[in-house]
Amino acid sequence: MGKTSKDKRDIYYRKAKEEGWRARSAFKLLQIDSECHIFEGVSKAVDLCAAPGSWSQVLARKLNENYKQALEKGPASPPKIVAVDLQAMAPLEGVIQLQGDITNISTAKQIIEHFDNTQADLVVCDGAPDVTGLHDMDIFIQSQLLLAALNIATHILKKGGTFVAKIFRAKDVTFLYAQLRIFFPYVYCTKPSSSRNSSIEAFVVCKYYSPPEDYEPNMLNPWLTDEPCNFKQLTGVNRVIVPFVVCGDLTQPDSDTNYPLNFEEKEYEYHEPVQAPIAPPYEEAILRSKRRADKNVSDQSDFNDTDIEAAIEHGNESLISKFKQTLCSTIDNSENDLSTIENSAQIKGNENQTDIDT
Ligand SMILES: C[S@@+](CC[C@H](N)C(=O)[O-])C[C@H]1O[C@@H](n2cnc3c(N)ncnc32)[C@H](O)[C@@H]1O
Repeated sequence: MGKTSKDKRDIYYRKAKEEGWRARSAFKLLQIDSECHIFEGVSKAVDLCAAPGSWSQVLARKLNENYKQALEKGPASPPKIVAVDLQAMAPLEGVIQLQGDITNISTAKQIIEHFDNTQADLVVCDGAPDVTGLHDMDIFIQSQLLLAALNIATHILKKGGTFVAKIFRAKDVTFLYAQLRIFFPYVYCTKPSSSRNSSIEAFVVCKYYSPPEDYEPNMLNPWLTDEPCNFKQLTGVNRVIVPFVVCGDLTQPDSDTNYPLNFEEKEYEYHEPVQAPIAPPYEEAILRSKRRADKNVSDQSDFNDTDIEAAIEHGNESLISKFKQTLCSTIDNSENDLSTIENSAQIKGNENQTDIDT
C-alpha cells in the first residue's frame, strides 16, 4: 500500500495530521461541540478512554480559551483535565494522566480522588472495546464501558454538568436513552460527520446533570472484574438506578446459556406449564384430528396424526391433497374441515418463508 493511500481515502486522517491532532477522533468532539455547545463555561473535565489523546488535546485547547475569557472578567481558576486509558499516553501539557481500566473500581477511585474537593463540569468517554465481530459481545462490552463512565460521572459531575459518551446504536438503544434520562433531562444522540457511516458508533450528549432525589453515588456496579457486589446494601432509588442501566444483575443465570437439568445440585423434576395457551392457532386442526380418530377414520386411511402434523408443519402440498382425497371419501362435510387444515398449512408455510427471508 502506498504511503499516501490512507491520506487519499480518509480526509479526517489527513486533516488531523495537518492540524496537529493525535487522532482523527478530535474532529468528532469538535463537531459534537459545534452542534451541542458542550464546552461553554467548562473549566474542569475528565477524559475517559483517552489514548492516544486527541480528545484531551481538544479539551486542553477549549478549556484554555475559556480560562483566558474568564480572566478578562476577573479572577478565575486554571483548567483541570484528568485523562484515563488502559494504554499509556504520551504526556500532554496541562493534562493529568492515569493509566487503568475504567471498569475497575480502583481506577474509578483514583479518578474520583483527583476531584476531592471539587467537581467536574464535563465528563467525556470515547471508550471502545477491541471489537471481536461478535456483535452481542462487542455491544455488551461497550455497554460496560458506558456504565462505568456513567458511574464515575455520578461521583464527580457537578449538578448541571455535561456527560458525552460513545454508544453503539444497536438493539434497545432507546431503552438506553430512557435510562440516561433518569440522570439528565436533556439526552441527545449525535453522529458527527467525521464518524464513519459504516460504524454503528454514535454519541450521547447528556446535559444538566440532575440525579434523582435521594440518589447517592456508589461503587456497587457490576464491574467487569470478579469483585463481588452485595446489591442488598443499596436501598430505595439507589437500588434500581445505576446497577441496571445496561446489563442487569449478573449473578442470575444467563438466558442464552444451556444449563444441565440437574442444575445447582437440585434434582430435576418435570412441571407442567402453569398456564397452557388458551386459544392457540393450531387448536382447530387438533380438534378435527381428534374427531377423525373418534370416528375411527385412521383405520380406513393411510394417514395418522403424525402424518397430518408433519404435513401441516412443512406445508407439504402433495401430502395434504392426498390426505384430502382420502378423507373426503370418509367424512361427511369433509370439504369444510379440510380447507381449515389446508389454510393452517398454508399459513405455516408462509411463516417458514418469512423466517428464511428475515
Ligand atoms: C477510540 S479510542 C479513544 C480515542 C481518543 N478519544 C482520542 O481522541 O485519542 C478508544 C480507547 O478506549 C480505550 N479503552 C478501551 N477499554 C478501556 C477500559 N476498560 N478502560 C480504559 N480505557 C479503555 C482503548 O485503550 C482506546 O485507547
